[in-house]
Amino acid sequence: MEVIVRRDKEAATDLVARLVVKQVMDDPTSVLGLATGRTMEAVYDRLVDIDAKEGVDFSHVSTFNLDEYVGLAPEDENSYRSYMNKYLFDRVNINKANTYIPNGIAEDLEEECRMYEAKIRAAGGIDFQLLGIGSSGHIGFNEPLSALLSLTRVKALNPETIEQNSPLFPSPEMMPRRAITMGVDTIIKSRRAVLLATGESKAEIIAKAVEGPLTSIVTASALQLHKHCTIVVDEDAAKLLK
Ligand code: F6R
Repeated sequence: MEVIVRRDKEAATDLVARLVVKQVMDDPTSVLGLATGRTMEAVYDRLVDIDAKEGVDFSHVSTFNLDEYVGLAPEDENSYRSYMNKYLFDRVNINKANTYIPNGIAEDLEEECRMYEAKIRAAGGIDFQLLGIGSSGHIGFNEPLSALLSLTRVKALNPETIEQNSPLFPSPEMMPRRAITMGVDTIIKSRRAVLLATGESKAEIIAKAVEGPLTSIVTASALQLHKHCTIVVDEDAAKLLK
């Protein structure tokens, strides 16, 4: 695991966007694993910016998102499909037919999870996985005590995550209590993973994930097992690292 500290949020975000661009330039048919959340909004804005100035060809890229809320249709404005369209897919030349996000309203959720995992394998696995980290230590929606060998499945969201994300909904009770998420093993199997965390509120969980013991209580500590993982933090998020 490699840790890179940048002066501020802007510099950390720029580095992560540059790593995505390099991946796509080096391999235009890359399979990207994508994340959502507030931290990623800035990454996608930066990517769109670089694309506008320098031109990045996303037309042969495939993407798999980490997660989707159970009960939200793709058209729902709070779904992660809507988020991805808004922040990235509608703004670059990606072929939307090659963008995959779990279907939160699938009739058979277990089958949906199995199929999602199979589609990732059929695409040849994930070349580059983008990650954020929740204050609960989750990556994707793999909440504390997620099995290290877990695959895509339905997870109940923990109270800290509900507190973290409910302000993003018109009213707190509208936030779904469950999500489909790629598993820890799905993430660990990616060929490269890059996690971005910015701001002081992430300092404690970053220290636990990077320097604490490998434990399913802090899901992100499982990244210590990843063969090629880079953690990018700003100085605020790096505050409690030794
Ligand atoms: C969502 C996801 C989550 C977020 C995490 C951080 O797709 O993967 O693990 O990355 O909850 O969210 P923010 O950036 O809003 O703090």
